[in-house]
Amino acid sequence: MNRPGMPGNNRGKMSNVSAAPDVKLDKGARIRVMRRLFTYVIRYPGMLISALLLMLCSNLLSLIAPRLSGLAIDAIEPGKGAVVFDEVFFYCALMLVFYALSALMSYLLATLMIHLSQRIIYTMRKQVFDHLTELPVGYFDRTATGEIISHISYDIDTVNASLSHDILQICTSVITVFGSLGMMISISPVLLLVFVVTVPISIIFTKYKTKKIRPLFKLRSAKLGELNGYAEEMLSGQKTIKAYNREAVIISRFDERNTAAVNAYYNAEYQGSMIGPTVNFVNNLSLSLISTFGAILYMIGAFSIGGIHFAALSLGDISNFIQYSRRFSGPINEMANIFSELQSAMAAAERVFRLIDEEPEPVDAENAVELNDVRGHVKLEHVRFGYVPERTILHDFTFDAKPGKIIAIVGPTGAGKTTVINLLMRFYDPQAGKIFIDGEEIRDLTRTSLRLGFTMVLQDTWLFHGTIFENIAYGKENATMEEVVAAAKAAHIHSYIEHLPDGYNTVLSDDGVNISKGQKQLITIARAMLPKAGMLILDEATSNVDSRTEVQIQEAMYRLMENKTCFVIAHRLSTVQNADTILVVRDGRIVENGSHDELMEAKGFYYTLYNAQFD
Ligand SMILES: Nc1ncnc2c1ncn2[C@@H]1O[C@H](COP(=O)(O)OP(=O)(O)OP(=O)(O)O)[C@@H](O)[C@H]1O
Ligand SMILES: [Mg+2]
Repeated sequence: MNRPGMPGNNRGKMSNVSAAPDVKLDKGARIRVMRRLFTYVIRYPGMLISALLLMLCSNLLSLIAPRLSGLAIDAIEPGKGAVVFDEVFFYCALMLVFYALSALMSYLLATLMIHLSQRIIYTMRKQVFDHLTELPVGYFDRTATGEIISHISYDIDTVNASLSHDILQICTSVITVFGSLGMMISISPVLLLVFVVTVPISIIFTKYKTKKIRPLFKLRSAKLGELNGYAEEMLSGQKTIKAYNREAVIISRFDERNTAAVNAYYNAEYQGSMIGPTVNFVNNLSLSLISTFGAILYMIGAFSIGGIHFAALSLGDISNFIQYSRRFSGPINEMANIFSELQSAMAAAERVFRLIDEEPEPVDAENAVELNDVRGHVKLEHVRFGYVPERTILHDFTFDAKPGKIIAIVGPTGAGKTTVINLLMRFYDPQAGKIFIDGEEIRDLTRTSLRLGFTMVLQDTWLFHGTIFENIAYGKENATMEEVVAAAKAAHIHSYIEHLPDGYNTVLSDDGVNISKGQKQLITIARAMLPKAGMLILDEATSNVDSRTEVQIQEAMYRLMENKTCFVIAHRLSTVQNADTILVVRDGRIVENGSHDELMEAKGFYYTLYNAQFD
């Protein structure tokens, strides 16, 4: 059921891929998916028609060829023991030509199908990826990354395998079954009666077994998924495991899952292994029946039943019949497997289409204007927002940030500080209230120009696989080495970089795991030093940097903040004392606001928070 070497065998690799089970689609959905897949194929009409022609010709040729072997056998003159060699050679040579042509055509067909399916897969992957860039931030917050990745890799791969293999196989099988049936009818309709006995046996047996086996294979995938998921979880948490000395527990839990996986494998394979030999036996049974029955018919010669005349059978006819009978029963048993594979492929295609159909970020308003020459006057009026409508996170948020001022947002964990930033950047839109920048409501601005108006250093630092230079230069197109070095110097990370063997060309592995958290933050700060945006957002930008370095980069930070409206979020309240206004947020409400001195004087919530840090 699972083709060896197919990624389906290790689909559990991503522990959070709960979306991969083989959900069966109902008929309507299946037809819709089929139609949609067909729209991809039909884009290459030339290839499609060539493929159909090649398939038809190659199958017909290989269907006719056995007929020639019968003619060659019949060239042996019965009774006399003499052989008409000219005829034998002629038929055999012709047969060879037929087979050779058929082989050549199926080779061409296979190559063509690989080309065709690769083009389709390329288009599909591109569509998915392009669409991902258009999706709102909310989609990524909702959806596990592993799941999205599995759509791009595993699901599309499954569709690919199905397109290039299963569909071809089905067409070939249909042609072979009906072709050989036709051939057998033309040779001897009477001999065909043998199949009335054997075909139902093998179909019923296969169906019965497949029904029993399918859940076993599903269980096998599920168990393997669990095992992989567990292994992944353990690998990522190995430091914690070691620290808590949980190795023995981990091993015994792994053993349990390993045993379960092996058992599930055994059950599925054991049951599956019974199909082949049984079906083979039934097929061979039909062979011996045909031989017996054929011998009798050969002896009888021509005869008629109820006015229908049956011609005498020659030895070549019987040999032909046997060959066609083998071809006939082969695909019937394959069908069940192929259809179940096709079903998984349909389900996979459906998941891919669902992603492609996911609502993109709404387009900018029709008469949206560009935000140019940012002064940085930011105003929130009675903004209400929740990530899900049922749970409001920000209640009635109102504040006015004058150009060039530093606004600090402080408050306990989970109060909604980062959420405010998400709204400013229009990663989400508020449910009520308005946000203005330079007097323009942000819904009336183009998203691109709005986002260009901000530079930000986020709470979750993000570095990509690339050199340190590339990572810092990310903030500005065509940044020069001088600019990058200047930024790194200001962020106090230059001397560290310089002492690396490869300096600025040091390659950071994914998400910068090979440097410390604080160094990561300094690199993202350096990145933010490059662009010249009118507004700045620092969300816990220095939370992982030691206090001394923080003080050292303070000056550069002030320079960075000069003439910009800045939103600074920090838990370390010492870093926000110089802000022009401090907004104190608690449970999604602004409970206090004012300068540090004012707030200390008021002896309110801020006062409590501040003293808690310095006691
Ligand atoms: N993408 C999201 N989907 C749903 N709820 C979210 C999402 N992001 C945050 N929340 C919820 O919104 C609330 C505010 O989160 P937010 O990230 O704004 O807090 P914060 O003040 O920045 O906290 P911290 O100081 O820990 O960074 C939290 O209760 C959080 O659970
Ligand atoms: Mg936050």
